[in-house]
Amino acid sequence: MIKRVRSWWTRKDKVQPPERSMDNVPEHVAIIMDGNGRWAKSHGLPRFIGHQNGMKAVKRTSIAADKLGIKYLTLYAFSTENWKRPKDEVDFLMRLPQEFLALELEELIEKNVQVRMMGDREGLPAHTVNAMEEAVRRTQGNTGLVLNFALNYGSRKEITECMRELGKKIKSGALDPEDITPEMIDGQMFSKDLPDPDLIIRTSGEMRISNFMLWQMAYSEMWFTDIYWPDFNEQSLYEAVAEYQRRTRRYGGLT
Ligand code: FPP
Repeated sequence: MIKRVRSWWTRKDKVQPPERSMDNVPEHVAIIMDGNGRWAKSHGLPRFIGHQNGMKAVKRTSIAADKLGIKYLTLYAFSTENWKRPKDEVDFLMRLPQEFLALELEELIEKNVQVRMMGDREGLPAHTVNAMEEAVRRTQGNTGLVLNFALNYGSRKEITECMRELGKKIKSGALDPEDITPEMIDGQMFSKDLPDPDLIIRTSGEMRISNFMLWQMAYSEMWFTDIYWPDFNEQSLYEAVAEYQRRTRRYGGLT
């Protein structure tokens, strides 16, 4: 491993990065942020405090990802299945993007971060969509980290929509089924402007995918940790990236 440590790390930093290689950093990291509720329970606190602390972990992780040179960070903030939760929890989760952006948007702009959203806008409250759209608009010219929030996102819904669109084109005679390619399917996905995730992280000890980027994860590396999302920090991200760097990606071929 190469010990090329970037200038922004000084001995004064509270968290020292592990010895790590700056080469072969995953371009796109996607995170299933899980364990907010259990984190809160383990501290004798209500669930919404877990989500609030989860929001702080979003900031920490974005800064850490940017420092590491990760280009795209996708965060699974609300799934199409999360509507099944009690209304007060859903309402609270729907206010978090707004709260986060009210606190952080100016700094995100200053840090050259580009905010994006992937998911179904329909069904989301207007205040959530407006906050996200403002952030997307005000950061669209930025060229640094792409911070992509998966909000009201569900992979099966995304794939279904894609089928529907292609079906319409076939029905109208504009598309021959024989001409359908994987690239054409990519182009119909919410993630169409992003590369596939190189590394998918899930926190809280759960080992499942929960309807997240099913098409896009064909060759993603997976990293699972027992850490609850509100405790996820720079060190956790470095560990995930270091493990990624030890893997050999063969894409079905041979090394
Ligand atoms: C899963 O934990 C977490 C969620 C469904 C919400 C994730 C949202 C955040 C981390 C905050 C997002 C912040 C912004 C800025 C959009 P859980 O509630 O299922 O935890 P549990 O499994 O322990 O109950």
